Amino acid sequence: MSRVLLVIIMLGCDVVLRDVQGFDEVHVRLGGAQGSGCAGRVEVSRGLEWGTVCSRGWDLRDAAVVCRELDCGFAFATRSGARLGGASGEVWWRNVQCSGDEFTIDLCERALNDGVCSHNEDAGVECTGKLPVPTLSMQSPFSAYSTGEAVLFTCAAPYWRHPIDVHLYKSGVDTPLVTQRAEPRQTRVELTLSELETSHQGSYSCLFRIQGNPGNSPSSNIINISVLEIHTPQIWYNASPVVQPGWVSRGQSFNVTCSTQPHYPGGSFQLRLIRPSGTVRHSVPARGPLGTFPFASAQASSEGYYCCLYKVQFGGRTFISRESQVLAISVRGAEPLLSPMVISLLVSGLTFVLATCAILLMARLYCRKTNKPRELERETRTCVDNTYIALTIK
Ligand SMILES: *[C@@H]1O[C@H](CO)[C@@H](O)[C@H](O)[C@H]1NC(C)=O
Repeated sequence: MSRVLLVIIMLGCDVVLRDVQGFDEVHVRLGGAQGSGCAGRVEVSRGLEWGTVCSRGWDLRDAAVVCRELDCGFAFATRSGARLGGASGEVWWRNVQCSGDEFTIDLCERALNDGVCSHNEDAGVECTGKLPVPTLSMQSPFSAYSTGEAVLFTCAAPYWRHPIDVHLYKSGVDTPLVTQRAEPRQTRVELTLSELETSHQGSYSCLFRIQGNPGNSPSSNIINISVLEIHTPQIWYNASPVVQPGWVSRGQSFNVTCSTQPHYPGGSFQLRLIRPSGTVRHSVPARGPLGTFPFASAQASSEGYYCCLYKVQFGGRTFISRESQVLAISVRGAEPLLSPMVISLLVSGLTFVLATCAILLMARLYCRKTNKPRELERETRTCVDNTYIALTIK
């Protein structure tokens, strides 16, 4: 009783003007339903009495509302009269006109039958049956990709009655980005999003449609992906005063700077100094797009080839840029590593060692030949995309 009063207060005089059914809700069911219980003659209740609907003006949009109200998926076909078998009760309505978006048939416009239609014209529906919610998954365990890569989604859509089209949707985009057909009983479909661009970053879900039918299944779960654009960094150096491009004076301070755009939180730069004696690596966190490597005092050991890499961890992966171009820095007035006296001592020592080596080598040549790349050659190859650079050894 209190509920009725509340309805009256909320709806005011509209209630009085509403059709003769009074305050009872209109219920709908499918008479003569078979199989899934989602096909049959449309029956509506008026009070405690069940009646039917005339199929004049009955179309898929009206049927869609009935299927939705009964949680039977969406309308696959309409049916009428004769094929539905014997019905009893009154024919309540005719000319039902739904837009297709209503949640219940009661919200659709209609006329009272008033004896126009007989049971020969009863309206019926064939609904798809409750559609399963598809499940979207990704083959890669990572949620971040770099531009140009492909991401492989799998949409599990366990629907087996009709051929379906499986669609991959990006949120905010009305049309599906990828569509793949599936035969009945094929319950998993692979959806590949290739040649990723930064605009592909976002949330994805899949759903399916029964071929030739306007409705669609519920949407799957959502998967987010990030798309990073990792460019080759730039490299340059600052020294003041500038001696001559490519040079710094011994003892002078200089900075090598790397830069990349776009940059990401947590990014860092690695600087590699390639010298005949080996490669020296330094690392600094990126400050915005820049990474500065300060060298307080140029020494002979500062001389060599510099190149940098940008590195960032994102979505469980580490992204590493290509190596920048190579920057050659020479140090003017660099002291020889060894004083003349030590050198003269070494030269005599070395002559002895060399002579010994020559003898050993010749002896070895008789035994077997080995052909290993020299150390310098190997080190130089690591930085510059396997291109060999001839180093000037001073
Ligand atoms: C190197 O960078 C520091 C700041 O990182 C700056 O104070 C200094 O002046 C720079 N040196 C040169 C030679 O540009």
